[in-house]
Amino acid sequence: MEAAALAELVHVASLYHDDVMDQARTRRGVPSVNARWGNTTAVLAGNWLLSKAAQLAAELGPETIRLQSKVTNRLIMGQIRELVGPSDDDDPLSHYFTVVAGKTAALFAMALQLGAVRTGAPEHVVQTLAEYGDHLGIGFQIADDILDITSTSEVSGKEQGKDLAIGVASLPVLLALADERPEAGELRTLLTAATAGPEGAGLPRAVALLHRCGALAEARTVMHARLLRARAAANRLPDGPATRALHALCDFVARRDH
Ligand code: IPE
Ligand code: MG
Ligand code: MG
Repeated sequence: MEAAALAELVHVASLYHDDVMDQARTRRGVPSVNARWGNTTAVLAGNWLLSKAAQLAAELGPETIRLQSKVTNRLIMGQIRELVGPSDDDDPLSHYFTVVAGKTAALFAMALQLGAVRTGAPEHVVQTLAEYGDHLGIGFQIADDILDITSTSEVSGKEQGKDLAIGVASLPVLLALADERPEAGELRTLLTAATAGPEGAGLPRAVALLHRCGALAEARTVMHARLLRARAAANRLPDGPATRALHALCDFVARRDH
């Protein structure tokens, strides 16, 4: 229970900080912490949650502290890499996968590893679960990127098109711009205008273009490929209710609609 609480504290802290970065106004259908109390409070409250997670880790022992501190570091590095963006020499798609491996998948892997470590599972099981968590987490973030474009705020509890409006390079956008599709030029212009101009202007057209050029469907294919890799890792674990739950989680991410 303590390990689960620790993982959830890191999760919520990351959302407080992420909503500051993304200038989000809503989270889970209610005003985000930054919208309600301001950025300073949201950052300090996020730091407070991370320090509580560290306290819990300290009670659980050195191995847990090592894992928690390493993962928090990877998560923040992922967010910083997203903020900074790819350098001129970086391939934008490899940069994207480095970002999501850090900002999202590291937390998934930690949750799985903590459970395994705390229950005394052998090292190869801990490693297989970490691998599963990395793939599931990347699949989850790709689903999140797709839902940012396709899901309404009533369903997701977050603003639709937020990534597009603030210029976060999500997978469907990167795929749409990667090879010069006929829609790429117009999309690039719309996205530049959306980030530079009044938020929301041109977004419906950008969403329509992302549908039409096939980038959303392609992102779904990449997501399913990740989930297959997560399943392949789960298949190396002994059969039982826990392993079946890991497969059910893959189904959940594949069918995610909010
Ligand atoms: C999620 O980033 C990763 C972290 C919170 C660290 P996003 O910006 O894609 O997440 P949402 O869409 O705001 O939930
Ligand atoms: Mg966000
Ligand atoms: Mg973000």
